[in-house]
Amino acid sequence: MAAPDVAAALRIAAPSPEHAGEMLTVQRAAYVTEAQRYHAPGIPPLRETLQEIRADLVGAGPALVVRAAWLGTRLVGSVRGRVGGSAMEVVRFTVAPDVQGGGVGRRLLEALHAAAPASVGSFWLVTGERSDDNVRFYVAAGYRVVGSSVDDAGVELVRMERARDPQQ
Ligand SMILES: CC(C)(COP(=O)(O)OP(=O)(O)OC[C@H]1O[C@@H](n2cnc3c(N)ncnc32)[C@H](O)[C@@H]1OP(=O)(O)O)[C@@H](O)C(=O)NCCC(=O)NCCS
Repeated sequence: MAAPDVAAALRIAAPSPEHAGEMLTVQRAAYVTEAQRYHAPGIPPLRETLQEIRADLVGAGPALVVRAAWLGTRLVGSVRGRVGGSAMEVVRFTVAPDVQGGGVGRRLLEALHAAAPASVGSFWLVTGERSDDNVRFYVAAGYRVVGSSVDDAGVELVRMERARDPQQ
């Protein structure tokens, strides 16, 4: 059954350190499917600790942009963007399993793109080579595959990029 279109009721904002626990919970739930797909329980998003997430929230600023999505009082997703030079890497992009497919991810990624400092001219990320849903999602958001690699958990990854202005 398709998820309801929840995006209309969504609120997106910068989370504060007190939201680290909810982000950890959603992140773990969302990435379990990816871990099962690759038989790799040790993928980095599942190894990340509460303290590491809290440290990112404490340190958020122009070099590390964080956005979260709420439905009412419930945190249902988050994404982080790490700035290096003139590019931003999109990491830890997660939506709670029961609301996936309802447009939350698209809105979150748009909010992250919009919040990137003016110095950012392009966005990039890595995702699982066999994660067809993810690759399709990012292609729809203007990204294209530019390379491949294998991470330290043995998972085959593709690197995807897009210009800040996709017309460029
Ligand atoms: C990837 C993710 C953040 C997308 O968020 P979302 O809210 O499900 O995405 P949206 O509803 O805005 O967009 C739907 C599109 O995303 C893609 N998609 C990816 N994962 C999906 C899922 N589990 N369920 C439904 N659609 C999914 C599909 O291409 C879908 O398009 P379609 O309707 O044409 O099939 C989310 O599914 C998720 O948390 N997945 C698990 C963790 C993960 O893999 N993160 C990304 C690592 S690079």
